[in-house]
Amino acid sequence: MKKIINGLSVILSGSNEAKAVVFVHGFPFDHIMWQRQVEELCKENLCVTYDIRGLGESNVGDGQFMLEMFVDDLENIIDELKLNRPVLCGLSMGGYISLRAVERMQEKFSALILCDTKASADDNVGKLKRAAAIKQINSGEFNPFIESFVLNCFSEKFVRENNAEYRKVVERSKMNNQLGVKGCLLTMASRTDTTESLSKIKLPTLIICGSEDKLSPPDQMKKMAEQIPNAEFVLVNNAGHMTPIENPQVVNEAIKNFLAKNRI
Ligand code: MLT
Repeated sequence: MKKIINGLSVILSGSNEAKAVVFVHGFPFDHIMWQRQVEELCKENLCVTYDIRGLGESNVGDGQFMLEMFVDDLENIIDELKLNRPVLCGLSMGGYISLRAVERMQEKFSALILCDTKASADDNVGKLKRAAAIKQINSGEFNPFIESFVLNCFSEKFVRENNAEYRKVVERSKMNNQLGVKGCLLTMASRTDTTESLSKIKLPTLIICGSEDKLSPPDQMKKMAEQIPNAEFVLVNNAGHMTPIENPQVVNEAIKNFLAKNRI
């Protein structure tokens, strides 16, 4: 079932009575990146996916966002749907949003799943890369930007062996509104650092990372897991940054085992 909440496109799959899992997607993707998780988990859970403001079918508005507003959007969805302490699952930019949401209001959640993400903010090199991306888009090179950004998100093996699926993700990403994409780049460049809060996370936490992830590599994610008191780390072999798409079987099993082990 699809709902519009405060201009955001929100999709619910599964029973309203079941424990909710809210999925927050990465950049420059949309809720569809969680399709394989939703297909499996909706048998036992209420799966809530949505398009982050500026991306997919959600409102772009004036394209002026900061991460705090993305966290407000997430809170608003949870409140509007009256979800009782859902599990929060975010990938990359969705992980930045999830980490800030947990820093701000962890009592609202029952567990945290972080896929291919980091707590640190952009350093100077990262900020300059965002600036170069915006300049590239402004010079009329939106599609080449998407092509190269998305290519970097997947393992070479996946691109080679699952090329049709990979191309679908690229073409879908190109359908995003350019203003929304630039707004997200500025949002990520200006986000706060949540590293100091990792030790205060009381939620059972699952950290998932692709062995070939170039954007949030396994050694960095392992370090992050070590700073969270109740975290377990799962490495997905042969996958890049997009583990839920690249190896849905391993990711789904990891999530199901984690929820069962923690009686969620
Ligand atoms: C994402 O997948 O959300 C992005 O790679 C995050 C980023 O560029 O920092």
